[in-house]
Amino acid sequence: MKKITKAVFPVAGLGSRFLPATKAQPKEMLPIVDKPLIQYAVEEAVAAGITDMVFITGRNKRAIEDHFDKAYEMEAELEAAGKEDLLALVRSVIPPHINCIFIRQPAPLGLGHAVLCARPVIGDAPFAVLLADDLMDADCGQPSVMAQMTRLYEAEQASIVAVQDVPRALTRQYGIVSSTPHGERLERMHGIVEKPAPEDAPSTLAVSGRYVLSNRIFDYLEHQGKGMGGEIQLTDAIAQLLQSEAVYAYRYRGTRYDCGSKLGYLQASVALGLKHPETGAAFADYLRTLSF
Ligand code: G1P
Repeated sequence: MKKITKAVFPVAGLGSRFLPATKAQPKEMLPIVDKPLIQYAVEEAVAAGITDMVFITGRNKRAIEDHFDKAYEMEAELEAAGKEDLLALVRSVIPPHINCIFIRQPAPLGLGHAVLCARPVIGDAPFAVLLADDLMDADCGQPSVMAQMTRLYEAEQASIVAVQDVPRALTRQYGIVSSTPHGERLERMHGIVEKPAPEDAPSTLAVSGRYVLSNRIFDYLEHQGKGMGGEIQLTDAIAQLLQSEAVYAYRYRGTRYDCGSKLGYLQASVALGLKHPETGAAFADYLRTLSF
């Protein structure tokens, strides 16, 4: 039985929706409370038993590499100052058994192209894709969303795409699937289309940024022409994949925050700020004093 041990994080995007904050730093390094977005995604993958993290980076993304590297000067200073708690915090960013691999995407040719860049290190195994913009907060008591998906992969041995229902007016922001029910929270996918107009969308079931994909996706990506927005789309390759093997859409147990948008980012900050052990109670008190 094949297990998922590798994850791809496409992080080459410009983050233009967050300018000027993203002028000189990657959008994936924007913090929610005290951790950058990319760390939430990596922690979600670690919780799913994934050990090889493959980042597809681009220009101006050096901070991501530094974040997952040893911080010699800072660690030495914290150690000398006897600040053990902070030292442990800095060292815990990436557990010792995790490998971080960085590949530079030479040009911004789209999500599908970014995933294709990972092929040399993925080899012939199935793998996960996590879009760090989508912050996934699993329901209380549930495993991380990626852990839910890798378990499902192990049971079904088929590609799994995370989906959620969205208002029809918003279909232009998502990959939209057509499917038929296939057990609890699971749908057998028959089609998928990237960012259709509301009147053309086959359903309102939208792809969130989590995928577990059969290795065969690379064969389709390699020959994939430009799609929506003139980019090589992962969605279009999945549309081909599902014609030759089963692909499932999974309604995950959790909440997705679209941290690629200002509103979603603010919502995530409030939700996670309220849950944070250090800030939660005081932040709740503060919010109660606000009136609109
Ligand atoms: C990407 C995918 C889209 C998916 C979305 C989820 O779009 O292309 O199919 O629904 O992520 O966040 P992006 O948001 O990068 O434009």
